[in-house]
Amino acid sequence: MCRMVKSYVYKQRDFGLGSKIPKQRDFELRSKIPILGCDIVIEMQDVWKTYSNGTHALRGINVKVDSNEFVYVVGPSGAGKSTFMKLMYREERPTKGQIFVNGFNLEKLKQRKIPFVRRNIGVIFQDYRLLPKLNIFENVAFAMEVIEAPKKQIKKRTMEVLELVKLKDKANSLPSQLSGGEQQRVAIARAIINNPAVIIADEPTGNLDPETSWGIMKLMEEINFRGTTIVMATHNKEIVNTMRKRVIAIEHGLIARDQARGEYGYED
Ligand SMILES: Nc1ncnc2c1ncn2[C@@H]1O[C@H](COP(=O)(O)OP(=O)(O)OP(=O)(O)O)[C@@H](O)[C@H]1O
Ligand SMILES: [Mg+2]
Repeated sequence: MCRMVKSYVYKQRDFGLGSKIPKQRDFELRSKIPILGCDIVIEMQDVWKTYSNGTHALRGINVKVDSNEFVYVVGPSGAGKSTFMKLMYREERPTKGQIFVNGFNLEKLKQRKIPFVRRNIGVIFQDYRLLPKLNIFENVAFAMEVIEAPKKQIKKRTMEVLELVKLKDKANSLPSQLSGGEQQRVAIARAIINNPAVIIADEPTGNLDPETSWGIMKLMEEINFRGTTIVMATHNKEIVNTMRKRVIAIEHGLIARDQARGEYGYED
């Protein structure tokens, strides 16, 4: 079910894993404008994907992801994880089946509604994908410029998200002047700037060392805690087994396992 809601966010910036459960007074109103909130953020009904070369990447996926969930997508290489994620942000279209994002049926979407739905989805990739000639501020602000937000609001919000990812002091640097972990934090800032309902992250720690990966995971957990649903594909066994979130395992294009507080379940 979807309805217009006022959304609240957690007030304090710094909390780590294991910090206390916040009380109601620790939250503040995120947006004075009510936003569309749905109990189910992602739903797939009998979704199939066959690529043009005949590869059957997905073979009948049925899944629901509720608002505020944190979901790991695991499985062997070539199992269909990235395809599963690409269908959610409409990078690829299914051969068969229905996909709903925040209540919108992606297969029946009118052209003029596409930007509205895209705004509700933040995407993070393994290779960061920052624009090399734009500085950090511009890379992040760009995501708000494309939705034609007022200039003043763009500046305020960009500094706010750069502060959240602790990169305010790098605002004028170019991506090439940043470490991999810092570049991924910029990509996270860019993904959350428009307050999306869901973040889709495909192996966001794939290029990072263990310590930096943990920093990224803490940030993802904070973003989830602030009210954003997270769907993350990963091969990082240690992270999945430590965080104990919902785990969806994809094998040969099918959901082989779907567990609350699940484990990685593979040797690699
Ligand atoms: N654009 C494409 N055209 C043809 N086949 C593709 C395309 N993209 C992916 N595939 C194939 O679809 C299957 C699923 O690929 P996908 O990228 O979804 O796997 P994955 O689970 O993300 O793997 P990895 O863990 O290596 O990232 C594989 O057999 C792959 O070769
Ligand atoms: Mg992949």
